[in-house]
Amino acid sequence: MEKQRVLVEKAGGVATLTMNRPEALNALDAATLEEFLAALSEIAADRSLRAAILTGAGKAFVAGADITAMSGMSAAEARAFGQRGQAAFSALEKLPIPIIAAVNGYALGGGLELALACDFIYASQSARLGLPETTLGLIPGFGGTKRLARLIGPNRARELMLTGKTIDAATALAWGLVNALHDPAELLPKAREAAERIAAAGPGAVASAREALAFGLESGIDEALAHEAALFGLLFSSKDAREGMSAFVEKRKPVFTGD
Ligand code: CAA
Repeated sequence: MEKQRVLVEKAGGVATLTMNRPEALNALDAATLEEFLAALSEIAADRSLRAAILTGAGKAFVAGADITAMSGMSAAEARAFGQRGQAAFSALEKLPIPIIAAVNGYALGGGLELALACDFIYASQSARLGLPETTLGLIPGFGGTKRLARLIGPNRARELMLTGKTIDAATALAWGLVNALHDPAELLPKAREAAERIAAAGPGAVASAREALAFGLESGIDEALAHEAALFGLLFSSKDAREGMSAFVEKRKPVFTGD
């Protein structure tokens, strides 16, 4: 049987996806993108899951799109490959549950773009991040020209994209690209701790909070506030909101059912 390029493990309501092509630093070729999309569909369909973690096997998170595969592509093939990568990363961003990127090593090009499509990023102290595409005569093609500027602002995004330089984990933290740095051995346990906190919260509330935030990033303030008020009100018709507030008043832990 052929080796799986994307591993999926599930435990206690948390899925861990591991990009598993370490011999090529988990570079993304067409076959890996398809497996990744299939793994996302599996996670999206599993109602027992409340949160997920995305990481890489070996010394890299993902060192980008597969340059060897791309070197043989025509313009039309490259456009289709770019669109497939964009579709995969949009599916990642639109997962019904939050996903934390645990960047264990190199996150370059498509690898950084992959992390950027997650809800937030934790990184190992030894991680290195960057968008080196211009040094190959290319541009970031899996959403990086959009998501990076939204996260760290256009000037720092331009610096990374135009120079193609890689930055160390401490710089990524200072720039607000990653939320926290962890000792390499602590990275997955810390990501799991955060995922378990998410898993313990009201699932409908977590979904609504993500939806409100995403909507607000793409719309005007008045429209976004109206949307927030609508979601806030809607939650009051859920059993979980009643349970959460009652549990507080009764000084006990809430038991959420997802209803
Ligand atoms: N594509 C294909 N193969 C890759 C790869 C990539 N992006 N990155 C690494 N590999 C392969 C190497 O070719 C090498 O294979 P062999 O053992 O068969 O020679 C193996 O992975 C190990 O890599 P290195 O020997 O290079 O490891 P290193 O520790 O010396 O260097 C590195 C690590 C600095 C990350 C270096 O591998 C590197 O620069 N990789 C390319 C990074 C890059 O440019 N990424 C952007 C790709 S373009 C893109 O992503 C476009 C887009 O937005 C859609």
